[in-house]
Amino acid sequence: MADESRVCVPRALLPVDPAGMPTEAVDVLVVGSGVAGLTVAAALAGRSRVALVTKGRLGGGSTAWAQGGIAAAVGLGDSPEAHLDDTLAAGAGLSEPAAVRVLVEEAADAIDFLYRQGARLDEEEGRFALTLEGGHGRPRVLHAGGDATGAEVSRALLAVATAGGCRLLPHAFVVDLLTDVEGTVLGVLLWAEGSLRAVRAGAVVLASGGVGQLFAATTAPPGSTGDGAAAALRAGAVLADMEFVQFHPTALHRGRDPRPLVSEAVRGEGAVLRDPAGQPVTAGVHPRGDLAPRDVVARAMVERMDRAGLDHLYLDATGLGRRRLERRFPTVVDACRDAGVDPARDWIPVSPAAHYTIGGVRTDMAGRTSLPGLFAVGEVASTGVHGANRLASNSLLEGMVVGRRVAAAVTGTRPATGRPTALTGSEGQLVPDGGAPSLVRQSDLRGWLRRAMTASAGVVRDGDGLAGLHAGLVRRTPQASCGVGPDGWEVANLFVLAATVTVAAASRRESRGAHWRRDAPGSLDAWRVHQTVARNPEGSLVLQTVPVGAAGLGPGVTGGDR
Ligand code: SIN
Repeated sequence: MADESRVCVPRALLPVDPAGMPTEAVDVLVVGSGVAGLTVAAALAGRSRVALVTKGRLGGGSTAWAQGGIAAAVGLGDSPEAHLDDTLAAGAGLSEPAAVRVLVEEAADAIDFLYRQGARLDEEEGRFALTLEGGHGRPRVLHAGGDATGAEVSRALLAVATAGGCRLLPHAFVVDLLTDVEGTVLGVLLWAEGSLRAVRAGAVVLASGGVGQLFAATTAPPGSTGDGAAAALRAGAVLADMEFVQFHPTALHRGRDPRPLVSEAVRGEGAVLRDPAGQPVTAGVHPRGDLAPRDVVARAMVERMDRAGLDHLYLDATGLGRRRLERRFPTVVDACRDAGVDPARDWIPVSPAAHYTIGGVRTDMAGRTSLPGLFAVGEVASTGVHGANRLASNSLLEGMVVGRRVAAAVTGTRPATGRPTALTGSEGQLVPDGGAPSLVRQSDLRGWLRRAMTASAGVVRDGDGLAGLHAGLVRRTPQASCGVGPDGWEVANLFVLAATVTVAAASRRESRGAHWRRDAPGSLDAWRVHQTVARNPEGSLVLQTVPVGAAGLGPGVTGGDR
């Protein structure tokens, strides 16, 4: 009998027994071809049998769309300590200080690594060019191709991974994780070329990105459906900080889905947020004005829009001049022109959009999760570095710093010999009284979910909205769990992760960083805790709190494995 007040999460999307399946084995299986996965593959080049699978085309995820850049304290007069201070301030009391220290202290090495892989970062007068973004006290953001940083990072790392013998499998969907009776991850159930197969690996490294597609307004690519985090949750891994979703203040507001980003660096180089009357939006809101941390700016925009009944504001970049805009921000200029906006002459219509999933599979700084054999890195993971609000341009950096540490941790692993248990696709797929699930189209469910999440779990939330959202999820999740094939599995994964965001957001009765509740506007000391969420054997989601700085698995830093 279904518990009709809860979302039920099945152990697996499909009831299959891997025992009789075509099986192959590798030492390390990397899932995802963004900066995190490619860093792991490039760092292992020539040292292990590595396969990298991705459900779309290689390099098709959000890394390739990253504009602003990579934060690293490599400029004259800068220091890891100053980078640490800015990261902790942006994180609003929830960043793990020891993890942030690893990030900032290994940043210069990560840049050096990237440079040695052949990435061409922009230079000025023989030094790396540095720009300013929100929350940074000084210009600290390296970039490439002006505002095409992610594309260059992808290009360079993919070339090294390929040359190093990594086996690349695009258009291959990881349906679920294979585990033994003790919960050790032995490999994955993979859908490729129209059939299922088992891939066994000594280490499975999830680098599959975030879940921006939970929201109707997002800068994340269509494939950002959280498949890795959802599979990890179903297999028993612990997720953390799921209530924290970062909204980028300046997504181009011109009816496109996903929404093109207008990099924060445009503000860093002088553009100003204005209302239709030309008034600056963040004046008096924060000492850093438009360059306050991202959560502050997004909220100030939403408040201004709500007061005036507007659905967007403007970014005035006209002061930068045509030549500088074209040289520094070719991607932004192209996107604006496609939308009929000339940023050298017109104010750019902008509004906030979901941009980065701060929560994810809980890991330490070597990517270790709560399940032996399973690692996670990049946007799919939650190291605790970003706290309640990620500092701009710390994500490509985190993918590289932790990616290199994951590579060190998995070097030498070989496929385990254990027997994977059969996957049970139906134990949690309980259909409420009334029989079989109705034939609701998966695309309708996806559309409903994106609209409902935007309305009730967006930049500003409240308890009533979250309760209504949760009730809608409970009603629809059984149908959402029944889809088959990659599109259907994506919908099932989106619903599972929507439930984790919703229960964590409803439980956190305070406002902090990217989680802002109009019915609980202050930050409370008692809530300086992470919330973890895991699936119990009956398929229910269980929330727990873990104080910031607690020892043990998670944000705790693992030394000696680099
Ligand atoms: C941007 O260019 O504004 C995005 C950078 C980031 O998400 O860190």
